[in-house]
Amino acid sequence: MILGIETSCDDTCAAVVGADGAIHSNVVASQGLLHSRYGGVVPEIASRRHLELIDAVISDALERADIDLSGVGTVAVTQGPGLIGALLVGVSAAKALAAARSLPLAPVDHLAGHVLASTLGRSPIKPPFLALVASGGHTFIARVDSPPEYRMLGRTLDDAAGEAFDKGARLLGLPYPGGPELDRLAREGDALAFDFPRSLPGSGLDFSFSGLKTALLYTVRDIGPEEAKRRAADLAASYQRAIVDALLGRTREALEQAGAPRRLAIGGGVAANSELRSGAERLAGELGVALWVPPFELCTDNAAMIAGVARFMEPIAYPGYLALDASARAA
Ligand code: KG4
Ligand code: ZN
Repeated sequence: MILGIETSCDDTCAAVVGADGAIHSNVVASQGLLHSRYGGVVPEIASRRHLELIDAVISDALERADIDLSGVGTVAVTQGPGLIGALLVGVSAAKALAAARSLPLAPVDHLAGHVLASTLGRSPIKPPFLALVASGGHTFIARVDSPPEYRMLGRTLDDAAGEAFDKGARLLGLPYPGGPELDRLAREGDALAFDFPRSLPGSGLDFSFSGLKTALLYTVRDIGPEEAKRRAADLAASYQRAIVDALLGRTREALEQAGAPRRLAIGGGVAANSELRSGAERLAGELGVALWVPPFELCTDNAAMIAGVARFMEPIAYPGYLALDASARAA
């Protein structure tokens, strides 16, 4: 059994995953409400809250999996990228637990967690495959041939897709985190009502979302607050369409490249978006590509995906990891 720990941002997470990829527990203590009044995650508050929650969350994950520490063979923890203070809480907890029992420890790349989320569960995706990962902090397309390795084919040059959702939602007066709220509001609107840019920079597979956010800002300013309020659903639907079109447009290009895998996985918090999900299904159907969309709890940040990555790694034996450090940046 692998005990996974994830504290890279504002969710305190622990999970127990079998070597076969079966998820025995997947606990997430969300700090969303704590940060909502600030309109975004406050790093120092997140670190302190992780510290308060981590022990209880780990105990809960073990209890739900019906094991105790003696049933754990490996401890896996997110080493980065993320908020450094937040990461340190998870890394310290993992080192302490592993060292106390001389267990091996696997330091996991958070992005690999999102990329490989679909390798978990009952019908896991098999390499080679392409993964579209869109979260609050990252947006990229990767190719997986032999996990845990992956190759980035394209990435956002500025804002992440989730950030674009959250900032757009804020401009429309929706509460934080705005992605799910904007998704809901968009269902009542007309996606063709406003014409927002689909900026796809250069000839590669990169993304850019900062211009889109500015376009929404100018549109709201031009039509005025009254009209913007009255047409909020149309604005949300059109804005969402622009983000989803950009994500799936690049995914289509990646899948149409010579030698591209015939399997696609989507992951990251934005993979919870209803329009992205239905659009990805249509795209996959059209191209004859098999699609994996993980359940919601494996899309947003969670520790099962971190434990999942460790299945493909050679963990560090005790006491080799005692000086292990968290790292804010991607490896
Ligand atoms: O993967 P995640 O939980 O955290 C990061 O690693 O960033 O992703 C969170 C992001 C937020 O920006 C949130 O607004 C977005 O995912 N999100 C959504 C939806 N649900 C979550 N965006 C659009 N539509 C949704 N339904
Ligand atoms: Zn994430």
